[in-house]
Amino acid sequence: FVSPVKFNVVAPSGLVYGLAGEDMLLPCVLEPRLSAEGMDVEWVTEDGGGVHVYKNKTDSLDEQDESYRGRTGLFREELRTGNVSLKLSPVRLSDANTYWCGVKADGRADDAKLKVIVNAVGSQPNISTEIHLNGSASLVCQSEGWYPEPSIEWLTSAGEVLPSGPVESSRTRDGFAVSRRVVIQESDGRVKCRVSSPNQTKEADAPREYQPFQDEK
Ligand SMILES: *[C@@H]1O[C@H](CO)[C@@H](O)[C@H](O)[C@H]1NC(C)=O
Ligand SMILES: *[C@@H]1O[C@H](CO)[C@@H](O)[C@H](O)[C@H]1NC(C)=O
Ligand SMILES: *[C@@H]1O[C@H](CO)[C@@H](O)[C@H](O)[C@H]1NC(C)=O
Ligand SMILES: *[C@@H]1O[C@H](CO)[C@@H](O)[C@H](O)[C@H]1NC(C)=O
Repeated sequence: FVSPVKFNVVAPSGLVYGLAGEDMLLPCVLEPRLSAEGMDVEWVTEDGGGVHVYKNKTDSLDEQDESYRGRTGLFREELRTGNVSLKLSPVRLSDANTYWCGVKADGRADDAKLKVIVNAVGSQPNISTEIHLNGSASLVCQSEGWYPEPSIEWLTSAGEVLPSGPVESSRTRDGFAVSRRVVIQESDGRVKCRVSSPNQTKEADAPREYQPFQDEK
């Protein structure tokens, strides 16, 4: 009779942030820090989808969901110190989910939950122009691939917000695409477009050839 090993599974941060396209770590450890080398480690999503399964000292790919194929890994060297954290790379927007980190050894099983939020930084804003028959010109700023939904505004070179058209926003698999139009006045001088989400900002100056008026010198 082998007495059950006593350990708990702990996700030190219940909430982790990833950035689409980059690598991320989903932290999970044993307490106390026993070696997990001979244990079964199972990372699954809340709805039971296999993310990464390690048993009998090897990764068990047949229990992995297609969408995670080739993007996950445990840190083999770290298993010895009870670190069963998962590496996910590259992160996708669709990885936003709640995950369970489960560890099983003879007579003992425990798991811990963590939530993953994925943000995405969109494309450099793209400015195009429309010259109307009545002689006025509007500029259209577009940017795509943002998460969460960004704000988009037109500014003077001094940083004052210009009254602009309504924000047009659509959600795709790759995040939010936004665009906004502005009719510029001669007094506005050079203008720029700014797209920002809580942690990221991208700006573009309207190209010189799109400025219907002269620069202020
Ligand atoms: C575990 O791995 C060893 C060595 O690869 C193999 O001989 C054994 O059959 C495996 N056991 C199970 C339960 O898969
Ligand atoms: C687990 O291992 C990873 C990769 O080496 C490391 O970045 C992380 O800090 C480790 N976590 C703990 C709690 O030791
Ligand atoms: C910018 O707009 C032009 C014209 O609509 C388009 O061809 C180009 O792909 C856009 N670039 C980006 C990065 O959105
Ligand atoms: C010129 O035409 C555009 C497009 O029809 C319109 O949005 C704009 O308000 C017009 N400007 C003036 C000064 O009438």
